[in-house]
Amino acid sequence: MPAWLKDAIFYEIYPQSFKDTNGDGIGDINGIIEKLDYVKSLGCNALWINPCYDSPFKDAGYDVRDYKKVAPRYGTNEDLYKLFEEAHKRDIHVLLDLVPGHTSEEHEWFLESKKATRNEYSDRYVWTNGWLQGVPGHPYIGGEADRDGCYMLNFFKCQPALNYGFLNRTEDWQKAPDDPACLATREALKDVMRFWLDRGCDGFRVDMADSLVKEDDENKSATGAIWKDIRAMLDADYPEAAIISEWSNPMQSLKSGFHADFYLDHHGNGYNTLLRDYETAGGDHSFLKKDGNGDIMRFLNDFLPKYDSTKDDGYISFITCNHDTPRPRRTLEFQELKLATALFLTLPGVPFIYYGDEIGMRYLDIPTKEGGYTRTGSRTPMQWNHGKNLGFSDADSKDIYLPVDPSADAPTVTSQENDPDSLLSTVKALTKIRHEYTDLHADSEFEVVYAEAEEFPFVFKRGELYVAINPSEKKAGVSVSKKREKIYEIGTTEIKENSLIMDPQSFVILK
Ligand code: GLC
Ligand code: CA
Repeated sequence: MPAWLKDAIFYEIYPQSFKDTNGDGIGDINGIIEKLDYVKSLGCNALWINPCYDSPFKDAGYDVRDYKKVAPRYGTNEDLYKLFEEAHKRDIHVLLDLVPGHTSEEHEWFLESKKATRNEYSDRYVWTNGWLQGVPGHPYIGGEADRDGCYMLNFFKCQPALNYGFLNRTEDWQKAPDDPACLATREALKDVMRFWLDRGCDGFRVDMADSLVKEDDENKSATGAIWKDIRAMLDADYPEAAIISEWSNPMQSLKSGFHADFYLDHHGNGYNTLLRDYETAGGDHSFLKKDGNGDIMRFLNDFLPKYDSTKDDGYISFITCNHDTPRPRRTLEFQELKLATALFLTLPGVPFIYYGDEIGMRYLDIPTKEGGYTRTGSRTPMQWNHGKNLGFSDADSKDIYLPVDPSADAPTVTSQENDPDSLLSTVKALTKIRHEYTDLHADSEFEVVYAEAEEFPFVFKRGELYVAINPSEKKAGVSVSKKREKIYEIGTTEIKENSLIMDPQSFVILK
């Protein structure tokens, strides 16, 4: 386990929307380098950069055409090596995005694989034996290749599935996970990882990490075995490199070697009940909404068993949002956003802040771009100041990657950085405390102190610290074992004798 993860606070950067330095309207690697001091000032000491590789951008870069080449629109490989170096000077670790399950249909492996004549890459992807034979349960993709066969998709139509084999095989074209062709795919993936790790990258956020072996068992044991093998490579040769999975099943991912796993907004996950529970009948039932319709037990009943059974294996990662998820500002007001950040930065595990959430950027209702669809509204340019394109780019507004928030009150870094009461200042105060108290680090003990169905507040212990949150509009009280000292608060809280009295929408850390 890389030691640096304990005290890591990540910042996720969507490269096309962060900072444009050459006026072509699209964010670039040099823009990230330019803003490293800003990242540091936020208290973030690690980055996750969404795919920045050569791509036809039918899925915003998750359709990789060349794993080892930076997309020209973002700069050059040398720019990225420089970013690693500049980040390291500031004690910032950098994770790239690894897409192991599929490539772009324009990747050279696929161009070879679709040829009629057999070659080294014929079995790099999943193909059936004939043009009239589809992959059961999948769309029928024939007629696009000279090869007499149909190929399997992993996600979008532009993303053919790489071949890691099938655990349960019913067709003769399905290979075993230990077939030489499937082992070659795995070695090719390791080669990509080594390429970037050798050049200064500190690890990977792994896209659709559970999608490797097809017809896997319900425990994903065959996909897990591949990750265990990759983890062994890291432990031997890159012990400080981290891998963090998009899997959202810590019982599977952390037991398979991932250092951390995202706790995502998947159906039924407790994370949704905290801030994105607006699809249930009868209004928004999110715990963090001030109307107080939430129920912390819906979160804990899901989270606690996962946490308890994996806490010795790795970390669970809470996110404010990501490039696939509606921004929290879509439904939360500023006070609610402050409390949300406070909760995510004090729970155990490795937290992630999505660029722009630290100032409460809006989710915009805009047309799709590069396969974003409803996700596009969470991918708009970072809002730095009140200059042209809100400081994102010098290009003509009509030429920028996506529009910036057109509202007169669009939040920006400059409008919040000198206001002690702003969301940005709150985020900075919280990251500072998290770094200062090892009890708040990823691996410190977590224990529920007070949590009752449909009641407030929610109180938990991290090591020797008590953390209490009352997101509701009602005053709430709870007894605390002895007189404790406040080290940080949002809103107003008061300790009287053996009780903690919390005003509406408040949060406190006690020592
Ligand atoms: C992941 C990414 C998403 C992408 C998909 C296919 O879910 O986060 O943005 O579209 O995988 O690679
Ligand atoms: Ca640019």
